[in-house]
Amino acid sequence: MLRDIEQYLTCPHCALGLALDQAGRTLRCPAGHSFDVARQGYVSLLPAGAHTGTGDTAEMVAARSDFLAAGYYEPIAAALAEAAVAPGTPGEPGTPAGLVADLGAGTGYYLARVLDALPRAAGAALDISKFALRRAAKAHPRAGAVVCDAWRPLPLADGCADLVLNVFAPRNGPEIQRVLRPGGRLLVVSPTTRHLQELVGALGLLAVDEEKERRIAEKLGPWLRPLAQHRVEFELRLSHRDAAAVVGMGPNAWHTDPAALAAALIALPEPITVTGSVRLDIYQRSTDS
Ligand SMILES: C[S@@+](CC[C@H](N)C(=O)[O-])C[C@H]1O[C@@H](n2cnc3c(N)ncnc32)[C@H](O)[C@@H]1O
Ligand SMILES: [Zn+2]
Repeated sequence: MLRDIEQYLTCPHCALGLALDQAGRTLRCPAGHSFDVARQGYVSLLPAGAHTGTGDTAEMVAARSDFLAAGYYEPIAAALAEAAVAPGTPGEPGTPAGLVADLGAGTGYYLARVLDALPRAAGAALDISKFALRRAAKAHPRAGAVVCDAWRPLPLADGCADLVLNVFAPRNGPEIQRVLRPGGRLLVVSPTTRHLQELVGALGLLAVDEEKERRIAEKLGPWLRPLAQHRVEFELRLSHRDAAAVVGMGPNAWHTDPAALAAALIALPEPITVTGSVRLDIYQRSTDS
């Protein structure tokens, strides 16, 4: 609930702290800016006039929700939960209870898994799509959902997060560094070139950029220290319906004609065996930055 994270939230207009009223319906800052909580439990802290065009649509979110609920990406959730509780490096203390912020949280699927693994932590699901956050607001009893733009100042206080998650989502190095406490960690999940490769070939989907790993490291490197990298590989046996969902929930949704996709799927075996392959990169904010 928003109540669990209100102490960490800041006003998008003046950067002062926000507090919920007694009824839990409005967030206010001391300068008098106020933000109404939506009926579905999330709050928008976007500055006026912000563009939300890159956010997932209602259809993409529905496809993602069904696909994740079927458990296909459970190995990714398990790897995140394991990394969340593990000490950053040998000899360092484990992640204390506090705030876990998920940047580009979508439906809150991974945040909920990480919160289950950290029983005293609260979670902030941050995303620019209200359709995603309607679901994320209900993803976990200790999670609150906030509409914001990953490319602008995040509505979170300096150094308030123990852990930031970033799963297939936009990464803003300077802002992630700012909101992490010194010593806090960032867990980044990104696809390798093998991810869904069978579908990429058969359906003519966007291939993962071979330079992606280098680009992520270059963008985050100036702000955070790389600690470790893991590869998570698994096999998915997908019905045509679930193959269509995995296409419809990601960036291909913007580029693929549903009728052409349906026609291409018919030619594939059912179920079709597909590779899941992601990198989990662990970064840390140094204690002297
Ligand atoms: C591929 S989805 C991943 C969602 C979630 N992390 C997951 O893996 O289930 C990318 C997410 O980033 C969000 N997004 C896109 N542009 C954004 C922006 N500028 N600021 C915040 N979120 C953004 C989308 O709305 C979407 O929920
Ligand atoms: Zn304000």
